[in-house]
Amino acid sequence: MKIGIIGQGYVGLTISAFAAEFFEVVGFDSNQKIVDQLNLGHSHIEGVESALLAKWIKSGQYKASSQGSDIQDCEIIIIAVPTPLTSDRKPDLTYIDAACKTIGQNVSAPVLIINESTSFPGTLRSFIKPTIERYSPIGVEHRYAISPERVDPGRIDFNQKNTPRVYAGLTPDALEKTREFYSKFCDNLVEVSSPEVAEAAKLFENTFRQVNIALVNEFAQIAHALGISVYETLDAANTKPYGFMKFTPSAGVGGHCIPVDPTYLAAVAEEHGAPATFIRRANEVNLEMSEYIVRRVAEDNGGNLQGKNVLVVGVAYKPNVADVRETAAELVIQHLRTHGAVVSWHDDVVSTWKGESSAPLQGADIAVVVTKHSSVDEKKIMASAPYVFDTTGKVKGAKGL
Ligand SMILES: NC(=O)c1ccc[n+]([C@@H]2O[C@H](COP(=O)([O-])OP(=O)(O)OC[C@H]3O[C@@H](n4cnc5c(N)ncnc54)[C@H](O)[C@@H]3O)[C@@H](O)[C@H]2O)c1
Repeated sequence: MKIGIIGQGYVGLTISAFAAEFFEVVGFDSNQKIVDQLNLGHSHIEGVESALLAKWIKSGQYKASSQGSDIQDCEIIIIAVPTPLTSDRKPDLTYIDAACKTIGQNVSAPVLIINESTSFPGTLRSFIKPTIERYSPIGVEHRYAISPERVDPGRIDFNQKNTPRVYAGLTPDALEKTREFYSKFCDNLVEVSSPEVAEAAKLFENTFRQVNIALVNEFAQIAHALGISVYETLDAANTKPYGFMKFTPSAGVGGHCIPVDPTYLAAVAEEHGAPATFIRRANEVNLEMSEYIVRRVAEDNGGNLQGKNVLVVGVAYKPNVADVRETAAELVIQHLRTHGAVVSWHDDVVSTWKGESSAPLQGADIAVVVTKHSSVDEKKIMASAPYVFDTTGKVKGAKGL
């Protein structure tokens, strides 16, 4: 069976690498540079080994393409394209729209289309299906299903095989074929009664994380005001064997999911007249953390950062990945600069970002740790500046939340 996977980023390439063991996979991406690199066997995604990719290319099980004609004889097509926010922070379905256009214009025999991109309830039924139909030749009736992706890039203990996969179909035959497809490489399939439940579950999972991170970030500020250690308090609370889950404070949330998905849920809630005040406020609390941290750093340094050389350590949105999407480091740097600080950053995993390169881990007046990659030595961080503020709770001897 031939599978087409639209979008070869974190989600699409990860699923391609797993599916290629059982199916012939065409990894379709509109970015020609990505396609060229993939066809040379070079993976750009953590967790997808270049050697594995090269093996599938050699055996003919995988090929990357930007040509619509390459997906025309696929039996299953998966959509794995970005679902970001617009500049006014509303759901942006333009990438999904473009993927639907590619499918509609190139696939003239009925196939199963599975959406793995994250979006609000109703996207499969009321956006993807009609959009593909609009671009398709008259009379072509595809089948539609949803299985929101749960990949956590860089994580090795959970993967496509052992992460339970929620799925639903618009019709019973779509459901059955979807089950058959994922059962080849996923051990635990969770069928739900409608695509809307699957779509909502994905959004709620990430909203759960967003509000709990906001809660602990707010609590970090309360603990500091009370003069007690937030970490010791959390460890104490975490000894309760039930009804508690430990989250740790940070400079905020980043990546393509936690800062974005809850806003999809809030937007659809408000459209249906339901309040989403809690979700909206959680988002604000996380965004405000960067300002709070810079204020704390300024207070510890005589209330003035004017002209101080500040080194931000770790600009990726989380440890051990090069992903800088929505990283909290960006806001931290912005607030430091507003306070007049001369800011550089150190992150050998990211290397270059926004036209700047990673600076040496030394010689600063102040260091602010936003993300601690495991490759970065704690002692070197402590030696990089006479004052170190650590937002991660991982650098011994540093000031922190
Ligand atoms: N990254 C994650 O950890 C993660 C986890 C779960 C779910 N998701 C969701 O999965 C979806 C994809 O996210 P991602 O992180 O893989 O994005 P990504 O940016 O890493 O990759 C998307 C890829 O799609 C390509 N693309 C964009 N428009 C296209 C089009 N019209 N046709 C073909 N290719 C196109 C881009 O060139 C890019 O390579 C999003 O909805 C996201 O919310 C992401």
